[in-house]
Amino acid sequence: MTTKILRGQALTFKADPFLVGDDQSFQYESDALVMIEDGKIKSFGSYASLKDSIPEGSEVTDYKNSLIIPGFVDTHVHYPQTEIIGAYGKQLLDWLNNYTFVAEQKFADKNHATEVAKVFIKESLRSGTTTSLVFGTVHEHSVDALFEEAEKLNLRMVAGKVLMDRNAPPALLDTAQKGYDESKALIKRWHGKGRLSYAITPRFAPTSTPEQLKMAGELWKEHPGTYVQTHISENLGEIAWVKELFPERSDYLDVYDHYGLLGERSLYAHGVHLTESEWARMHKCGAAVCHCSTSNQFLGSGLFSFEKAKDKTRPVKTGLGTDIGAGTSFSHLQTMNESYKIGQLSGYSLSSLKAFYLATKGGAESLYMEDKVGSIAPGMEADLVVLDLKSTPLMDFRMGFCKDINEVLFILMTLGDDRATESVYVAGEKVYGK
Ligand code: GUN
Ligand code: ZN
Repeated sequence: MTTKILRGQALTFKADPFLVGDDQSFQYESDALVMIEDGKIKSFGSYASLKDSIPEGSEVTDYKNSLIIPGFVDTHVHYPQTEIIGAYGKQLLDWLNNYTFVAEQKFADKNHATEVAKVFIKESLRSGTTTSLVFGTVHEHSVDALFEEAEKLNLRMVAGKVLMDRNAPPALLDTAQKGYDESKALIKRWHGKGRLSYAITPRFAPTSTPEQLKMAGELWKEHPGTYVQTHISENLGEIAWVKELFPERSDYLDVYDHYGLLGERSLYAHGVHLTESEWARMHKCGAAVCHCSTSNQFLGSGLFSFEKAKDKTRPVKTGLGTDIGAGTSFSHLQTMNESYKIGQLSGYSLSSLKAFYLATKGGAESLYMEDKVGSIAPGMEADLVVLDLKSTPLMDFRMGFCKDINEVLFILMTLGDDRATESVYVAGEKVYGK
């Protein structure tokens, strides 16, 4: 076993800055040493304090001008939509019909799914994302294709087959029973294999019958440790449609709760228009919201409220989602950039530390994986991204005027993108380098 040593600046979070305040939340080392053994972090601290513990024969990499942080966690993304990023026009429901459902039908061909899965994983890693919660399509083999590729790189990934038995083209529909059976088979095949986990994936309430939602809830109950992922309150037209389809339920979240799809390890994308009682219920149940800033702007969905999500009296676990392909970038740096602007438009200035927390540990906490990924500490899995602080001439110039780490992070998220990814480590192995 070779010990790997990474040296450079490093940043990680110890607590949620929305709750404890920015100053108490993070650890920054201007000259850090990260020691990696057996795919895990063995020690982390200042180089000066740890240099004498470096074992003989260690492989040392010095990342001058770079910042080592935990790999980004993308809590909401659709890999089959990689091919429709930037599809022009209209809001959610038209966009789904005109582009998404057309592209997803191509996944009836597993070779196509494999081809897209390869591009998806490559782009994620190029952007420094090491863990994602991913939607497949309705086709069972769409998840096989993705997990087969993820397994080759030993990625920590969560994914699931979409459940849809109404309000979509016939070629994309399953039935309540077929969706249950196929999801169950995928759980058996993949959940807990290496670093892979399964997410039961009803697309959103309008595309599932009550029977399908009920069976999805039962399946979740039968398989503790699996996840639920879906969408909620992204768009006003969507919310009105849910009211029409489920008039007996008190609100959108109540639909999911009623069918047993709300609890720890359930992650809801968007939550742009949630009501106070829905936020309170999510907090109580330990569910998470996935804020998808580039998508919300691209589809004109509305302005997510950080203040409501992270209200100290009932904070809701929150992560960032790229939501490819309604989202427009694989890069969480760009996702943070747009999150900041969303905050600005609603009178809330998101600090750089809070943004980086959401992109790393916040995502890991949303997935109940904070003991495995999302921070740099002894015992954590060594999923890391090294960010080049001089990745473009403009960034190089601008960084010269930064006073402290807050400002460095803010410039990284404002000017940075995949060009800032210097190296990526997954379970201690270097899987990407510029
Ligand atoms: N709601 C239901 N399906 C989708 C989807 O594929 N993308 C987005 N952004 N919202 C959805
Ligand atoms: Zn989505």
